[in-house]
Amino acid sequence: MCGIIGFVGELDSGGQTDGGTTGSVGAIIHEGLRNLEYRGYDSAGVALVGASSGLTVAKRSGEVDGLTVPDVPDATHGVGHTRWSTHGPPTDANAHPHTDCVGDVAVVHNGIVENYEALKKELADHEFTSDTDTEVIPHLIEEELAAGAGGEEDGKEGDADLLAAVRRVEDRLEGSYAICAVREGDDRIVVARRGSPLVLGRGENAAFVASDVTAFLEHTRDVTYLEDGDVAALSPDGVEVFARGEPVEREIERVTWEADAAEKGGYEHYMRKEIHEQPESLRQTLAGRLDVSAGDVDLDVSFPPGFLADLEEIRIVACGTSYYAGRYAAQLFEELAGVRATVEIASEYEFGAGRTPDRTLVVAVTQSGETADTLGAVRRANAAGARTFAVTNTLGSTVTREVDGTAFIRAGPEIGVAATKTFASQVATLAMLAVAVGRDRGALAAADARSVLKDLQGLPGAVQQVLDEEEQVREAAREYGDGEAFFFVGRALGVPVALEGALKLKEISYDHAEGFAAGELKHGPLALVTPDTPVLAVLTDGARAAETMNNVTEAQTRGAPALGCVSAGDTYDTLDVSFEVPNVGVVEPLVANVYLQLFAYHVANDKGRAIDKPRNLAKSVTVE
Ligand code: G6P
Repeated sequence: MCGIIGFVGELDSGGQTDGGTTGSVGAIIHEGLRNLEYRGYDSAGVALVGASSGLTVAKRSGEVDGLTVPDVPDATHGVGHTRWSTHGPPTDANAHPHTDCVGDVAVVHNGIVENYEALKKELADHEFTSDTDTEVIPHLIEEELAAGAGGEEDGKEGDADLLAAVRRVEDRLEGSYAICAVREGDDRIVVARRGSPLVLGRGENAAFVASDVTAFLEHTRDVTYLEDGDVAALSPDGVEVFARGEPVEREIERVTWEADAAEKGGYEHYMRKEIHEQPESLRQTLAGRLDVSAGDVDLDVSFPPGFLADLEEIRIVACGTSYYAGRYAAQLFEELAGVRATVEIASEYEFGAGRTPDRTLVVAVTQSGETADTLGAVRRANAAGARTFAVTNTLGSTVTREVDGTAFIRAGPEIGVAATKTFASQVATLAMLAVAVGRDRGALAAADARSVLKDLQGLPGAVQQVLDEEEQVREAAREYGDGEAFFFVGRALGVPVALEGALKLKEISYDHAEGFAAGELKHGPLALVTPDTPVLAVLTDGARAAETMNNVTEAQTRGAPALGCVSAGDTYDTLDVSFEVPNVGVVEPLVANVYLQLFAYHVANDKGRAIDKPRNLAKSVTVE
């Protein structure tokens, strides 16, 4: 996830747009980047276009405040970018904007160009200066301009045209993206959207474009949300939007949020915003990594020859939410990769007797890559001679420097202390790793792999369907949120989700909540069940729903209300509340978890808790 912004405008003498903030083009873009920094802070950059000064680009690794925006007094428009690294480490060279060989086109991009390696080969005579997927875009635009796109090449009079070139480049890109392009000598910003968000801001004699309205809300509240496949040209004269090459009208909406909410993209809390970002973050996690027809996965990781075939055990080490992602993954490794998989709380981990170091893969799951307990476990594994691997959200984090290999979950920055979207992306990444290992070991047939990959492909859409049911969860939270304690139950893949659901609720609402393997209820916890202890159950595919329902009924017999996340098509008449989970096979329990996230959020919100910064907790715990 990255943040992009563009501004084109005729400013009055004070540099005012209709919102009343003053500033030069560069200052307006710089301020917009500050507002977008929640989307990434690995590097920042701007490209400004001046009537006579041409194109000026400035970029560097590090946070937005560290970027010096050049003073370009005649700048008429420009674009800016704040980066969350996916391809290539957070260096100056990999910072956006990226330019073409001629140096007159600059592009900023959010998303992933999945076929960039193939495109780079086609552009063999171009000189590349970064490791990013993005850099192919300005070079492709350069080629289309050189070929006369929009001019003679298209049977028209006049010179090649940036808008026509971007349209043609779009046809060659695979993946998800939002892009903004500028060109020296052209007074427009040309933008395109497919799969990544892009919104236009309409000011007086000014236009904005950004990943979200937060970037420009202080200047204008009149916005147009672009749709997938839209291409638009922004100039001081206004905005033109095209779909499939034809001009289209898109509605202008008025944003009514207040400034404080705007910082969180209109949500009251980062946590709720991050819950709602999951379709986008999951798309990014999966982008370019699934080859469904071949039943294969490309995670860009490698192991020594024969290592996976000889593997004796995968040992996952992690803390908190990441530990529960590990619990989910261990079951997938056993089922899909045919290898023994165990999970250890990182602070408890020791290499242990009876294991062969060079036949053990220790996988550290850590959002931040900085958790001291997890780093300690990695160091103990390294000292024992095991092969180590990290699954993390953070490029360049400490864990990535200490392990033999890394897979990035690409969820984008998470600000709420309670992890939400990173849990989903961790499980999705680990599921892909399980398929990759299973295929490599010959333990997973292509047809079975295809079925899992199809489920993964359906994940973002399924999560969106759950988010669309938020009102139902809000009502349930209102009705059952005053319970004395809350019990979360499930079986198989439902167990880690039950544990994570309970953790979410206790973290942010401070209510007593416990997760159990459903079969264990009758071995003790049932003594605590009363009419004041709601039971929340995972009743989906992959979670042995029918057996779990028997245990739920045992609790109901003692008077407990029961809320269940149920696979679409199934019904349990006795449930007090039934949340429908779309059919996506082994990731159904992961989708059910989104209901539990929303439940925790609304219970805590009704109680007025400090949701983004719960008492006594920290996002990243760097002490053992
Ligand atoms: C802290 C956070 C949790 C997180 C855990 C592990 O306790 O509050 O939300 O799950 O650390 O963090 P990591 O960055 O290693 O995933």
